[in-house]
Amino acid sequence: MNDLELYFRENKGRLIHKCVNYFDIYDQYFSIYRNREIVILEIGVNHGGSLQMWKHYFGSKAKILGIDINPECKKFEGENVKIFIGSQSDRSFLKSIIAQIPPIDILIDDGGHNMQQQIRTFEELFDHVKKDGIYICEDLHSSYRLGYGGGYKRRGTFIEYSKNFIDQLNAYYSEQGSLKVNSFTKSVKGLHYYNGMLVIEKGEVPNFQDEKTGQPALSSDVLETNIPKGLYKLAYLALYTTNSILRFFRLPGIRWR
Ligand SMILES: C[S@@+](CC[C@H](N)C(=O)[O-])C[C@H]1O[C@@H](n2cnc3c(N)ncnc32)[C@H](O)[C@@H]1O
Repeated sequence: MNDLELYFRENKGRLIHKCVNYFDIYDQYFSIYRNREIVILEIGVNHGGSLQMWKHYFGSKAKILGIDINPECKKFEGENVKIFIGSQSDRSFLKSIIAQIPPIDILIDDGGHNMQQQIRTFEELFDHVKKDGIYICEDLHSSYRLGYGGGYKRRGTFIEYSKNFIDQLNAYYSEQGSLKVNSFTKSVKGLHYYNGMLVIEKGEVPNFQDEKTGQPALSSDVLETNIPKGLYKLAYLALYTTNSILRFFRLPGIRWR
């Protein structure tokens, strides 16, 4: 059991409410930040227990920030812990927070969990996460639950919204104007979907760059086509044209073999 889960299990202090599978994920991404001067922002303070847990885990050099809509949460402020009161749905409130805080190393959205909140929070705060930082959106179950306006492949859910991140991450390879490289493409290293949680790992990734090392050991490469050399250009042109028509209709493409 990692230190975070241990703290959670032995907690007799303020209430913490977390899904138990999160602790391993947290520890996997957060352990390198321990005992460093970092800024962590958690949206959703509730009884203040998770902020205490972060303080304990990251150590005295960490700056712990919280956002909650409930004004009572202000009482959980203390040494290295600052709480902002307001709604994560309120873009101007979120903008005002950015103006007051340093760039964030770790952001955890554990607030109201409805889709509008998750999307607006991402749109307003993602760029304020450092270029090697971590952005986490928790409790993605809301995207599937009717009570939150969710549903399988339902428009407007955070899950549907975040599926576009996968394309954006790979936009370097796009040959279509409808998918272009943007700041997300340039600043995100990885998207990690877990049960109930999305971890967005920031980090600069160079454009597609592959290399070969060592000596070839096959007499023929299976990746090469078996089409006679003379017909290769013609066949390729036919394939290319057919595939661009199929692509227009979003139909599956065809290959040589
Ligand atoms: C799941 S609890 C947070 C749990 C806490 N992080 C923990 O681990 O113990 C959700 C919190 O989000 C807050 N919340 C709900 N809607 C919000 C909103 N629109 N803006 C900010 N906070 C909100 C609630 O007041 C509640 O304290």
